[in-house]
Amino acid sequence: MDTNAMTLTRFVLGEQRKHKSASGNLTRLITSLQTAIKAVAAAVRRAGIANLYGIAGNTNIQGEEQKKLDVLANDLFVNMLRSSYTTCLLVSEEDDKAIEVDLEKQGKYVVCFDPLDGSSNIDCLVSIGSIFSIYKKIGDTVSESDALQPGRQLVCAGYALYGSATMIVLGLKGSGVNGFMLDPSLGEFILTDPDMKVKPRGKLYSINEGYSALWDPAVKAYVEEKKNPKVGKAYGARYIGSMVADVHRTLKYGGIFMYPATKEAPNGKLRLLYECNPMAFIMELAGGKASNGKIPILDVVPSGLHCRQPIFLGSSEDVDELLAKYKEHGSS
Ligand code: AHM
Ligand code: MG
Repeated sequence: MDTNAMTLTRFVLGEQRKHKSASGNLTRLITSLQTAIKAVAAAVRRAGIANLYGIAGNTNIQGEEQKKLDVLANDLFVNMLRSSYTTCLLVSEEDDKAIEVDLEKQGKYVVCFDPLDGSSNIDCLVSIGSIFSIYKKIGDTVSESDALQPGRQLVCAGYALYGSATMIVLGLKGSGVNGFMLDPSLGEFILTDPDMKVKPRGKLYSINEGYSALWDPAVKAYVEEKKNPKVGKAYGARYIGSMVADVHRTLKYGGIFMYPATKEAPNGKLRLLYECNPMAFIMELAGGKASNGKIPILDVVPSGLHCRQPIFLGSSEDVDELLAKYKEHGSS
């Protein structure tokens, strides 16, 4: 056993020390997120046995109400973040309105999160994840506009992947991207992937090709070229349909992940605040790129809590090539 392991808590404490003025609030916030993520991971692992699949509103043998996994994950995130005394505003994919934390429990951070992303994959045991992003509130009081800052203002973002193992990938301004795997015997996240960087070019493209008839000409031309290149070998195709898993593979192996606009969904599907921004923040910190086809995702000014954006992210050369197609073909 490693008797001096770098746990996530220890790592964040170390980073806190580098900032003389740090109060420890972000460290406490991340600790509360870890607790929520461990509980979600435990629930995901025993979901079938505990009857957590798709049955919100059911009653178990003790007469207690059972919750669907995504409702349970949302409750865990909201409760842990509220009781950390570090947050003032919470935006969740599961709640239409932002949740303002009770005044006596308020801190300075705004957290946007998707407590369980990829929920359509839950019942067939495909990897799912949680995604979060953290801002500081702008003024003394708090309002919805504190959550509508461009992603460029983020101080921290991350995701948890409930895959063949559970992993947290954390992007922290000034500290890069680091990956921590859950050691189930300890209940601790251990640093396994320090200073993660995405390759400048990969060999994989990732997109839901079922919608190809609805893509704009730039995306059509790009994907066609990946399949039938004029020079070199064709790219491989990978698409899990779970953003956390698709983005994590892109970060580890390189390549490009795309969820473009379609004729039916002119802003794409993925939500800016808690899906696109956190992943774009991590990708840029890891040396990659993330764009909506016109400008970097992190420069988009949110138009609402649940607004959507087309997204193209991953290896910088791959994203640049896609952007060149947009220059050539225009955006629609
Ligand atoms: P969800 O938030 O309802 O789970 O939807 C988001 C998910 C992402 O994880 C994934 O990238 C995308 O939806 C897949 O969508 P599609 O099935 O249209 O390809
Ligand atoms: Mg989602």
